[in-house]
Amino acid sequence: MTSRNFSIETIGIVGSGAMGRGIAQIAALAGLSVRLYDTNPAAIGAARDYLAETFAKLTAKGKLDEARSLAALTNVKPAHAISELVDCDLVIEAIVEKLDVKQALFRELETVVSGRCVLASNTSSLSITAIAAGCTDPSRVVGYHFFNPVPLMKVVEVIDGLRSDREAGDALMDLARRMGHTPVRAKDMPGFIVNHAGRGMNTEGLRVAGEGVASFVDIDRIMREQAGFRLGPFELLDLTALDVSHPVMESIYHQFYEEPRFTPSPITGTRLAGGLLGRKTGEGFYRYEDGKQQVPAETPAPAALPGSVWVSKRYPGAYDAVVQLIGKAGVKLDEGATPAADSLIVVTPFGHDASTAAVDETLDASRVVAIDALFPLVGAQRRTLMTTPATTRAARDAGHALFAADGVPVTVIRDSTGFVAQRVVATIVNIGCDIAQKQIATPQDIDLAVTLGLGYPRGPLALGDALGAATILTILRSMYDVLGDPRYRPSPWLARRAQLGMSLTQCDAADNPTETQS
Ligand code: NAI
Repeated sequence: MTSRNFSIETIGIVGSGAMGRGIAQIAALAGLSVRLYDTNPAAIGAARDYLAETFAKLTAKGKLDEARSLAALTNVKPAHAISELVDCDLVIEAIVEKLDVKQALFRELETVVSGRCVLASNTSSLSITAIAAGCTDPSRVVGYHFFNPVPLMKVVEVIDGLRSDREAGDALMDLARRMGHTPVRAKDMPGFIVNHAGRGMNTEGLRVAGEGVASFVDIDRIMREQAGFRLGPFELLDLTALDVSHPVMESIYHQFYEEPRFTPSPITGTRLAGGLLGRKTGEGFYRYEDGKQQVPAETPAPAALPGSVWVSKRYPGAYDAVVQLIGKAGVKLDEGATPAADSLIVVTPFGHDASTAAVDETLDASRVVAIDALFPLVGAQRRTLMTTPATTRAARDAGHALFAADGVPVTVIRDSTGFVAQRVVATIVNIGCDIAQKQIATPQDIDLAVTLGLGYPRGPLALGDALGAATILTILRSMYDVLGDPRYRPSPWLARRAQLGMSLTQCDAADNPTETQS
């Protein structure tokens, strides 16, 4: 098709709810003319009142000068009928999440606007190609997926449908920057980038809980304090609420034809049915009193240290770290080739459970404890200790005392392939790698989208690099070996780069890093 000039100065927003008003706010502040439309006229009034109030608050806080505040508010005009969007260069739809309703709206918009007007959808779960399919000119239809609350969530996904004109998407990329947002570009695939990458943390967290490995609160503590995430999976689920996140988990799973990586958990369906939605209903995975999360206290660490400790040398880095902690605790290190009869036995598996590690190394399982050494053990904020089903209470308590001797809290969990942090982090990295493998987005955009859209300390690919792609591959292979569950099969993107000693952010020479294939 011929190149069109997609210069954007006047935008129409259809749907003046939570998303529409947020988009209006950043657009008006960027100096764009905004026309707000909604089938419910009261929603337009409410959105304008909200914007007036927000601009006044920003002015009072000194974040916005009065002239700009006034100009921004003047920039937003109500449209009383859809025909008043006639002079828009772009119309962004943020209406109800229903394919037929969105298709009907886009068809109607085509009869109103000029041929060079871009039509964008803020859908989070529908296919852009499907929305565009009803249009006479599907090339002007592009996904523009903002996050809630729009002014604070500084990332937007620009999604190319199969028939989208690349230049229309380019115009939306430029516009996002002008509005102070970071655009990332994605192919039209279920969940785009952020809702696809976000499957790792919550489905694996739920799986860990479902296996009875640890409580919800303990899993959150580990993910926060050991793995360095801002929120654990259950705090996150409580925040988004199960009436939102449970259907998303099911939808992505089915849209990828029952891909085991995305298998949801019966835990959320039952809790949803019971009304334990999360923070907004006062009870979810946590209880909330006056809006405050109620967190059960931790059991204090036992004081009695082991007499002597033998440490597996299978992973030399982990061995050194454990030996350092033993030295700091003033406990005797058993340096025998095999453990002495009364020594506590410490193993440091990656992706294996403590039982498999004990059997592999022909150790007495009743004295075995396993410590997670994926994140640095020395200087840790929290450590995770795991037992075999045969480990005695005395051995477990001695291990707990040993690893808590320097005051660092220790979470003791039941046996698990990959503890908690290893398996959740490896799943996050693996899914990020699959997104890159499927060319849904560039590695850079995947990491950007995840850090800005999910608030993770690093994107999945950078996280894999930081922990070592080979280590992540070991964890996944071990989990896959023990469980035989294809959920844990390593992504080819990860396996190839890990084996070749490459960064997970590196594309093939054949790839144009600025382009994704539809
Ligand atoms: P909302 O319910 O707050 O607002 C939707 C507005 O659209 C309402 O004011 C309603 O009157 C209006 N509306 C419904 N049908 C219409 C039609 N045919 N023509 C004109 N106006 C119509 O919804 P929200 O949360 O703002 O979501 C809007 C869209 O944004 C949905 O597609 C949703 O999936 C997507 N989205 C929502 C996010 C969120 O966290 N709320 C995040 C990202 C995307």
